Amino acid sequence: MNVYDSGRMADIMRTLGYEETDDPNCADMIIFNTCHIREKASEKIFSELGKFKPLKQARQKEGKDLIIVVAGCVVQAQSEEFLNRAKFVDIAIGPQTYHRLPEMLNKLERKRKQRIIDVEFPAIAKFDTLPQAKSRGVSSFLAIQEGCDRFCSYCVVPYTRGAEYSRSMEDILKEANELAKSGTKELMLLGQNVNAWHGEDKNGNTSNLAKLIEEIAKIDEIERIRYVTSYPSDFTDEMIAMHRDIKKVMPYLHLPVQSGSDVILKKMNRRYTSAQYIDVVERLREACPEIALSSDFIVGFPSESDEDFEQTMELVRKVKYAQSYSFKYSARPGTPAAALSCQVDEEIKTVRLEKLQELLLEQHHDYNAQFLGKSIPVLFDEKAKKEGYLLGHTPQMVNVVVKSDDSILNKIVDVKITKTSATTLEGEV
Ligand code: 5AD
Ligand code: SF4
Repeated sequence: MNVYDSGRMADIMRTLGYEETDDPNCADMIIFNTCHIREKASEKIFSELGKFKPLKQARQKEGKDLIIVVAGCVVQAQSEEFLNRAKFVDIAIGPQTYHRLPEMLNKLERKRKQRIIDVEFPAIAKFDTLPQAKSRGVSSFLAIQEGCDRFCSYCVVPYTRGAEYSRSMEDILKEANELAKSGTKELMLLGQNVNAWHGEDKNGNTSNLAKLIEEIAKIDEIERIRYVTSYPSDFTDEMIAMHRDIKKVMPYLHLPVQSGSDVILKKMNRRYTSAQYIDVVERLREACPEIALSSDFIVGFPSESDEDFEQTMELVRKVKYAQSYSFKYSARPGTPAAALSCQVDEEIKTVRLEKLQELLLEQHHDYNAQFLGKSIPVLFDEKAKKEGYLLGHTPQMVNVVVKSDDSILNKIVDVKITKTSATTLEGEV
């Protein structure tokens, strides 16, 4: 979502004559987009910011300026602290106010030296005022839903992104068409709780994600559709049927379970049991046997016992994941779980995370091994780190590296897989 927001901020700045640059030394303005989800992500911004202070000072010595903007959820959660800890920041904006960047810049120019802060949740949705979206390549993100009303007890999102909001179908289709016309072949629909999308259709009726995807699939240029992140108990039969029936919907689903222990799930305020989660997985696999599953896991949630953790391991053994993201529980200020007295020792969290990741890595390795010798359609969308190689991904969202010139960049081509590992496939076009 932050990558998407950063792209949208670039769209806004382009309307004012700015161009994106990778080189801070050339920049008239630097925007830091921040993440508050875990402490590690949140603290990173202060050290990053420090690096740019000398650049700003040098610019000012030359009688010029470098405008520093901080955006995103850390700002939303700690705006005052932010301005106190980073004195040279000019503008601080939250995730729901970045569309007002032009106004803020204007204000900054008029009232030099006065710092500007805007972390409201304005009534007019930012999506209504954003400029035309520019494709950022053959594979693009599109936010269809934002915010969350789930209030999982560990999570800051409902406080930083605000209440759940669904964009209208018309608005989404307009952006999808704009992206398709400027080169997008693969769309990743985004939302903190994406399968709860319930925007209005063109007749003013409440729609759902399966119907929205059916409409997006009618756009010729769009060949692949994905969506992230889904909440397990909102996963309907209609969604399962969609995976079976719409060929453009890719066989990959990120379905975070967080924990395999029902006691912990309850304390997390996740509204499903491990058995209900497994039931969704089984029905989905029956309808779409080739589907790849991924999940998020949190270890060391307050009061998590060895037995609770073992239940997470057990669930992983049953489900078998193609990909995964696993984290140590991080107490976030203002969330109910942070106030619980039975916090788990950091060392115990470390041991549990290692065990879980070892098992998951083994599964990812086994999952990828099945593709050895097979021919798979791969969408190549970037150059790999290794000179002369390209990076792409399969329908199941597995990374593929091939030695090739740029002629296949932005195309879907068949690749014969010659080598596999837990994270990447290698092959020949
Ligand atoms: N501590 C650790 N992980 C967290 N996540 C969200 N909040 C926390 C937290 N306080 C993880 C969840 C979520 C993913 C985006 O980040 O697993 O699905
Ligand atoms: Fe956070 Fe996701 Fe829970 Fe919403 S559903 S509160 S975004 S973890």
